[in-house]
Amino acid sequence: TDMSDFIRGLPKAELHLHIEGSLEPEQMFEFARRNRVALPFDSVEAVRAAYAFSNLQDFLDIYYQGANVLLTEEDFRDLALAYFRRVAADGARHVELFFDPQTHTDRGVPFAVVADGLLAGMAQAKRELGVTSKLILCFLRHLDEGAAFATLKDAEPYLDRIAGVGLDSSEVGHPPRKFERVFAAARERGLKLVAHAGEEGPPEYVWEALDLLQVDRLDHGNRSLEDEALSRRLAEEGMTLTVCPLSNLKLCVVDDLKTHPLKRMLQLGLKATVNSDDPAYFGGYLGQNWTAIAEAVDLSRDELVTLAKNSFTGSFLSPAEVQQRL
Ligand code: ADE
Ligand code: ZN
Repeated sequence: TDMSDFIRGLPKAELHLHIEGSLEPEQMFEFARRNRVALPFDSVEAVRAAYAFSNLQDFLDIYYQGANVLLTEEDFRDLALAYFRRVAADGARHVELFFDPQTHTDRGVPFAVVADGLLAGMAQAKRELGVTSKLILCFLRHLDEGAAFATLKDAEPYLDRIAGVGLDSSEVGHPPRKFERVFAAARERGLKLVAHAGEEGPPEYVWEALDLLQVDRLDHGNRSLEDEALSRRLAEEGMTLTVCPLSNLKLCVVDDLKTHPLKRMLQLGLKATVNSDDPAYFGGYLGQNWTAIAEAVDLSRDELVTLAKNSFTGSFLSPAEVQQRL
């Protein structure tokens, strides 16, 4: 359609993508076969049929299980490269990707295997597709802060190749304040800071991400709109929100894309961006997230251009690099 052609042609960045969430069922079988890992499914169709979630935890259980097939540096490189090929076809020029090292180190896969594999895929994507990228290390919030500190220590040899740290996994019951010290340590090391907040958790968690973690960018942030003072604060600060429409639909954060808060965020002057989160699990990559939300909430071409611009100005590229790409 005209709309999807227009969207594909807009230079865009993706700022909220969990690389483990780009593992397609076909690839899950391929990695399981080559690594001789047993899968609890006997077909790609059976895997897809299991992707019916009623909340975040439902999804996380199956997402962590899927990650068990990832063992070697080649797996991580191939996973990243397959994702970059898809997102390049959607017109993405830059990606800031999350990875969850603890999901792998807790299974005995060394941090270096994960990081070297992903960095190799990122370098190849730059050479072959012209897509640039940055890596963001996420701490799993269902684990304790000591485990996050151990992960930051694992990352020490890679800190020149890691742009920032984030916070993901089960939100409710694991408020940002639990990670105040490790975020301060990351900040001292010159890392950028982001956190998932207000996806399922209350506005209070968004306040904590701002005031206690001092994040540079907010992941999701949907529930901020329940708090007028918080919405005003986010608008005044020009805080970037990485919004994930199809994820919100699949995890029942919204009942219907037509009532998705993205339109209201833009009307309130919030700096929102559109992203895919875990595209292999939620039914679409970056382009599909853009076309689905554009259609559902009737975004104008001006609004689409604003969203594309926000994706670069909200990125961790330098101001000079952003200027070159707008
Ligand atoms: N890990 C992967 N996707 C996530 C999401 N949408 N929320 C929290 N943790 C995640
Ligand atoms: Zn996410």
